[in-house]
Order: sequence, then C-alpha cells, then structure tokens
Amino acid sequence: MVIKNGIVVTEYSTQITDVLIKNGVIKKIGKNLTNDEVIDATGMYVLPGGIDVHTHMNLDVGIAVAQDDFYTGTIAAACGGTTTIVDHIGFGPKGCDLGHQINHYHNLAENKAVIDYSFHGVIQHVDEDVLGKMESLMEQGITSYKIYMTYDYKLSNEDIYAVLKRAKELGIMIAVHPENDDVVSKRQDFIKRGQTAPIYHERSRPIECENEAINRIIGITQKAFDVPLYIVHLSNHLGMEYINMGKQNGLKNLFVETCPQYLVLDDEYYKRQDGIKYILSPPLRAKENNDMLWQDIINGNIDTIATDHCPFDFELKEKMGRADFTKCPNGLPGVEARIPLMFSKGVLEKKISTNIFANICATNPAKLFGMYPKKGVIKEGSDADIVIINPNMSNTITHESLHENVDFTPYEGMELKCWIDCVVSRGDVIVKDNQYIGEKSRGQFVKREKPILDLYKMGDKNE
Ligand code: URP
Ligand code: ZN
Ligand code: ZN
Repeated sequence: MVIKNGIVVTEYSTQITDVLIKNGVIKKIGKNLTNDEVIDATGMYVLPGGIDVHTHMNLDVGIAVAQDDFYTGTIAAACGGTTTIVDHIGFGPKGCDLGHQINHYHNLAENKAVIDYSFHGVIQHVDEDVLGKMESLMEQGITSYKIYMTYDYKLSNEDIYAVLKRAKELGIMIAVHPENDDVVSKRQDFIKRGQTAPIYHERSRPIECENEAINRIIGITQKAFDVPLYIVHLSNHLGMEYINMGKQNGLKNLFVETCPQYLVLDDEYYKRQDGIKYILSPPLRAKENNDMLWQDIINGNIDTIATDHCPFDFELKEKMGRADFTKCPNGLPGVEARIPLMFSKGVLEKKISTNIFANICATNPAKLFGMYPKKGVIKEGSDADIVIINPNMSNTITHESLHENVDFTPYEGMELKCWIDCVVSRGDVIVKDNQYIGEKSRGQFVKREKPILDLYKMGDKNE
C-alpha cells in the first residue's frame, strides 16, 4: 500500500510526501512512490498512530469494574486514532506474586484486543521476592511499574525508596500516582460535615495533596540516584513547578504525563447537575490550570499525553455517589477523544506544532516505555501504525458517535476542527468512516525493551 501526497509528520519534520508500506512495516518515505493499493491523503495529515500509555481496561476497583474490556476499549481506541495502548493493570489479591496480575491481564487481553498492547506492572507490596521478580519479568517485556502513594496498596516512603533503587539498577521506569494518603483519608470529615456534593471531591484532594506527594517522591528519587521516574496524570501547574525544580536540582530522568481532561475541563464541572460524572483522581482543577498546562506542553516540559481511560456509567456513578462523593467509582472515559481533541485544540488552534503533537502523543510514549522505533514514529523500518487526519472536516464530539462502552463522554458537544479519515495498524486499514473494519482480536502483545530517556525537545511553536 502507498499513502500518497499526505502531510507526513516524521520525528523531526513535516513534509508533503508518500509512505510505502510492505508486510506491515514502513518500507520507504519519499516522493512519487507507487503501488496498486493507494490511499489518497492529499490535504490530510499522516501521523504516527497514537500511543496511549495510561488506560484501565477491565479495571476492578472493588466497588465496580471499568466497563471497557480489551475488545470494546481497543475498538474505541482504534476509532480515535490510537494504535497501541499500555494498560495500568489493577491490584491483585493481597500478597500476590508480581507476575500474578500480568498473567491475569494476558488472559483478559488475548483474543480480545484489536490493536497492539502491553501492560505496566503494579507493585502493591515490597519484599525480596518482588524486587527479584522485577528482573525476571523484564524478559517477558515488562519494563515499567506503577506505584501508588494512596489507595489500598499505597507504598510507604521506605518501600518507594527500595523500588526506585531497584528500578535504577535494572534501568526500568517507575510510574507513580502521587497523592498524599493522609490528606485523602480525611475525606470522611467532609461527609460528617454534610459536604457530600461532587465539588468536595476536589476540595478534599486539593492540589497540595497531589503536589506534596510529587515533591516527596522527587526527594526520594534524588536519594535513589535519579531513577527514571514518570509522574502520571499531572492535574495542575504548581505540580509542574515542583518537577521543574527537581530538574533544576540535577534530576535528568524525571518525566511527566498530563491528560486531555486537565487541559479542557475544570472544577466548575463538579457544580453542574451532572457533576458526579467528573469524579476522578486527581480531580479536575481551577480553570487557570488549563492554560498553564498547555503552556507547559508548549515549553516542552510535559512529555506525554495519555488518557487514564477508566469508564464507569454516569448512571452507576450517580447511583453510588449521589449521597456521598466518596462512594463514587473514580475515573473518566477518554481513550477515543485524545487524538482528535489534541490535534484540534493543540495543532489546529496553533498552540503546538505537528511535531510536538507527534512527540507527546506517540514518539515520547514509545521511547519512555521501550517500544521505539518499532512503534511511535513514521520511519523506515517501523511498524506501519498510522492515523490520517482530515483538517478540512469539522466534527462535534457526542456520546452517540463514540465506541466507548459507557453512557457518556466528558467532552459532549465539544467542537473539533478535524476528523479521523482512516487508521492503519501494522499495515492493515482498521478504521474507515468512524467504523472499525479490521479483523477480530488482531492485536498483539508488545514485548517492551528498556526505556529510552533521551527525548527530543522541539520547544518551539508551529513551523
Ligand atoms: O480516578 C482515576 N484516575 N481512576 C483510575 C485509577 C488511577 O488512579 O489512575
Ligand atoms: Zn493513578
Ligand atoms: Zn490511571
């Protein structure tokens, strides 16, 4: 197949050219390439397929299970221009072996996923066995772990130190959910005072609750010799300043992710009639953070955009959380909206260049999580994972038009200046006209390598 005359976004440049695909791999990039099968991309952007390194398919949070499984969730991801996910797996039974949940998730994803996938491991307790297994699981392609500073299986500072030190020895990535658990556990005080409405979700987990934990783990990583550390779902700009301070103090391996919800939604949503929909952690923040986080992207300080896709029906959230926000399952859907939303609000509204877009939505995630250059880039020899975006067609996000298995989208009614024309995964056209047209369960597990920590920073605006 050849993709003709598109505006092709490679790692460092954007040019009108052709892309020749053979056996699922990008064979050649250049002008006047020919083949029997042609996709005419004239006037359209040809970009690396999105990589979403923060999803929660099938997540069991004890009180509910996230409603997308690896079939519905990856169909939705594909229709939204994402060709690879790395899922944050749920906690297993207390005391379980490090491989337990990885095996469980292989069973959940196999014969279901329609795009390529991998898993971050999860560390829910620390002992010699866990620290030892971190090495053996690398051979199975697990080169990153998430740790939590709150929730049931939060780690103590001492355990965090042990994990970071071990990750440094192995050269792998630790992703962290930073929130101060002592603050979070005081939520019941709000309920006792009758402050049960959704806005108190934010007030009970304020930015200081998140930022103290960010600052604390940065302190610990300084002790643990600058281990590769990845802050997930950053919700506010002050947290970014703590991270920048860590970098100024000499940390070279500090990386940060934010999510579209923190760029386009804010805590006013909690005051709406349907405010319970927007319960997730960390919560949506005051509106000024939207612009400041965009500026952090423009400045090259935010490395990746992921979704934290964790869908629960509004009906369920309302039923469980109406009388008490602490009872509402946490999480928002978003895997399908990420690419069109970031392209429209970021590139087409002239905040960021096409190359920054490709870097934060595909190339950097691929590098940081050990999939580059197989994934995340339009380059000769890389997998032909490509999304073609039409900037001449507008679109409105509606729940009806999406494929996520949930009864709402937090982005309902949002106007976009683009439309996904088609999606190619390992050379197969899998999405056309907003429909998944690929084969069933064609997704493959990606055995990941160690992270590449040297990211290219464009640091500029549109070219
Ligand atoms: O509220 C959220 N984000 N739920 C998903 C689990 C997590 O903390 O990432
Ligand atoms: Zn988290
Ligand atoms: Zn998450």
